[in-house]
Amino acid sequence: MCIKYDKKTKLIKINLFGKSYSFCLNSGFLPIAKEDKNSKNNYIEIGKYLNFKAKISGSNNKVIIKDALKDRQSKIRLNICGNNNTVFIDNIYECCMLEIDVGNFVGVNNSSVIIGKNLISVDCKILAYQDDTPIKMGDNCMISQNVTIRGGEKPHRVFNTITHEYLEPTEGISIGNHVWIGENCYITKRAKIPNNVVIAANSCVTKQFSEENVVIAGVPAAIHARDVNWE
Ligand SMILES: CC(C)(COP(=O)(O)OP(=O)(O)OC[C@H]1O[C@@H](n2cnc3c(N)ncnc32)[C@H](O)[C@@H]1OP(=O)(O)O)[C@@H](O)C(=O)NCCC(=O)NCCS
Repeated sequence: MCIKYDKKTKLIKINLFGKSYSFCLNSGFLPIAKEDKNSKNNYIEIGKYLNFKAKISGSNNKVIIKDALKDRQSKIRLNICGNNNTVFIDNIYECCMLEIDVGNFVGVNNSSVIIGKNLISVDCKILAYQDDTPIKMGDNCMISQNVTIRGGEKPHRVFNTITHEYLEPTEGISIGNHVWIGENCYITKRAKIPNNVVIAANSCVTKQFSEENVVIAGVPAAIHARDVNWE
């Protein structure tokens, strides 16, 4: 067993039976990051009051998640399989459950999940399943229960049977500031949602919207109301 303290990341790294575990003593909970033995140069910085667990299989990934609120039960599960990915959350208001997968059993490289300040997530899965692709969410967003935000289809591929061209690539997902995502919503890989939007429960957002202050609803989601905001 080998124990090291990394001054830069403030993590205590323990090597046990060929696996590397990182612990951060900076938090009310004990964030745990488990890296496989071939992983190198992963940077992990976890703020206070987060129940955080990560599994990392790959190298040169950067994870920065700032503080959660002290009296809330904020819980994040992160899996990274791949290299050169970034996960950044500016800070968390309340996060009953947020699961972020970058890659699955097939690695994803050079992708990112970037989330702004004051995130509320009741129960959300963010799946970054395409190389070189960002998933961005602004400040003050609220995600309800059973929401999936899927940024790609890897390892499956959809192609045209005549041209053999792949159909699925996207430039990523962009969600603005102060967006409320209702329960059971599904946000697909090229969705664009502007500021101050409400996404009605059970909607499937597949398109790029540009109008702010609207209610988007349905499958596929379309604008159902204008000149609205939420609090
Ligand atoms: C989006 C929402 C806030 C709209 O509520 P509202 O302002 O009272 O709006 P209305 O119910 O009057 O509906 C406005 C329009 O959107 C449609 N609409 C509302 N919710 C819809 C839904 N889930 N799917 C499809 N259409 C919907 C209505 O049919 C109506 O269309 P119309 O004008 O053509 O009749 C509400 O329907 C909703 O989905 N809330 C999310 C609840 C939730 O997830 N809570 C978790 C708490 S974190």
